[in-house]
Amino acid sequence: MRIATLNFSAKLGLSGFLITVLLGALSAVTLIGLLYSQHDRGFNIPAMDRIQSHYSDSPLISAMKGPMYQYVTEDGDIDVIAKWIAAGAKNDAFFKDEVMYILGEDCQKCHSRRSQMSNAMPSMPFSSYEDVVQYTEGGYSWTQMARTAHIHLFGIAVFLVLVSLIMAYSSYRPWIKTLLITAGWIALWLDIGSWWLAKFYSSFAFVISLAGSVEIVAVCAMSGLCLLNLWVRLPAVLLEPVEQQAA
Ligand code: HEC
Repeated sequence: MRIATLNFSAKLGLSGFLITVLLGALSAVTLIGLLYSQHDRGFNIPAMDRIQSHYSDSPLISAMKGPMYQYVTEDGDIDVIAKWIAAGAKNDAFFKDEVMYILGEDCQKCHSRRSQMSNAMPSMPFSSYEDVVQYTEGGYSWTQMARTAHIHLFGIAVFLVLVSLIMAYSSYRPWIKTLLITAGWIALWLDIGSWWLAKFYSSFAFVISLAGSVEIVAVCAMSGLCLLNLWVRLPAVLLEPVEQQAA
């Protein structure tokens, strides 16, 4: 069976799915660009140091370098808090004098249980040592990791297996199919495995970026190629020779 020989309505159904996957990939790329750049709209190139910070810094530091950067009065404030965390995040004089001072000036107007700000975050108060210390562990916590990893693995596996199967029944040469299908799955495991490893070795942020890009390229290439195969006559160099297809 080849997807090119399906009837019109089956082709319509598959095309709807493949176009939706392409749109999903486009929104994922947009989101990644927005999360890891200084901008809040349009398409952005993610900054490597932001990605590294997200996966290896503590939530406190990575928020101050990332989405909460607009509220940080001085860049030096981030260094002060990073220094306190590197020294073990203890409930000492440095915490009371320096860290709480910065959090009080920059953050507590929203991050307090009784904040009246319209976009406040009362569920994440920074009012005491106990409040703050939970956000000082580097990288994802075990809970955060397990939560994000299982959603990603299950979610991506479901559409990746469908895209892989549609690709497998396309008319392309076998090496093209094998390459793209293998790349899709291996990149997925590498990407998510590296989230965890980046917690300990921040250079794994490069593997995250590379594997994530390979994943997106493989999914888009398979979806795009399958769409073409459904509706367009393709150049013979891409196609498996006809006598083998019949077998
Ligand atoms: C104007 C209100 C406001 C101020 C000021 C503010 N925050 Fe936030 N913060 C929020 C809101 C709302 C969220 C949840 C939504 C989000 O992540 O954007 C949040 C989320 C966070 C998170 C969780 C981020 C994540 O990725 O889950 C951290 C950590 C944080 N803020 C730290 C800080 C620090 C440190 C400061 C001070 C430098 C600060 N915030 C200042 C409103 C604020």
